[in-house]
Amino acid sequence: MEQTEDRRSPEADPPSDPGDRPRRAIRSFVLREGRLTAAQERAFSELWPRFGVDWTPGVPLDLAALFGNDRPVVLEIGFGNGESLAEMAERDPERNWLGIEVHRPGVGHLLLEIERRGLSNLRVMRHDAIEVLREGIEPGALDTVQLFFPDPWPKKRHHKRRILSPALVELLARVIRPGGIFHAATDWAHYAEQMLEVLDGAADLFENTAGAGAYAPRPANRPLTKFEQRGERLGHPVADLIYRRR
Ligand SMILES: C[S@@+](CC[C@H](N)C(=O)[O-])C[C@H]1O[C@@H](n2cnc3c(N)ncnc32)[C@H](O)[C@@H]1O
Repeated sequence: MEQTEDRRSPEADPPSDPGDRPRRAIRSFVLREGRLTAAQERAFSELWPRFGVDWTPGVPLDLAALFGNDRPVVLEIGFGNGESLAEMAERDPERNWLGIEVHRPGVGHLLLEIERRGLSNLRVMRHDAIEVLREGIEPGALDTVQLFFPDPWPKKRHHKRRILSPALVELLARVIRPGGIFHAATDWAHYAEQMLEVLDGAADLFENTAGAGAYAPRPANRPLTKFEQRGERLGHPVADLIYRRR
């Protein structure tokens, strides 16, 4: 299906950071900081110490210590403003939830949601999720990983920035327990096809719960996300992809 770019996509070529080394790793995001609201500023000073998780390169997280129990952990990559993540965590208190996002206002927004809903089973990291998956999670430590509406990077020359790639699938296979779930959703038809190809291509690691070559029915427990709502207004159909770790 032909889709045109919309305002959600980072359309310009990503700016290079002044401190960049040549040939740095290609990242799935461009940091556009945006301004924090006064409430988000307060969230960082008052709520981060309670619900935020600092990143120490190369040191795996002690998830049981982080949550104060050893319940199953769901990790969400790129939660945006975090409202759908907070809703899922509130509805499912028997599991622990860890959100990772690089966008500072989104992190501030989720901290406020945690406070507003009085959640004790949700923690937040502000870092590149790829690095966290690679260095910060012990093998088999996660029950579920979810990736909802990742940046589509629609221009062909930017496809290499798409976060769902064979390299991500390798990382996921290491951190998701046998029988655990990887759930992705996108409203970008070309990206959905690529996700299906990459994930079905790793059939030795992950089983497509809908059967090879098929998208999954939308699960009832996935709330509408902010980016999904915008996609709906643009008439984009949504594909869910749900895979079980072998
Ligand atoms: C298109 S938005 C979708 C946000 C949210 N999931 C939703 O559906 O509303 C993608 C988000 O992923 C975040 N992101 C992209 N790459 C990331 C990475 N490597 N680590 C953490 N967050 C990332 C971006 O900052 C952005 O907020």
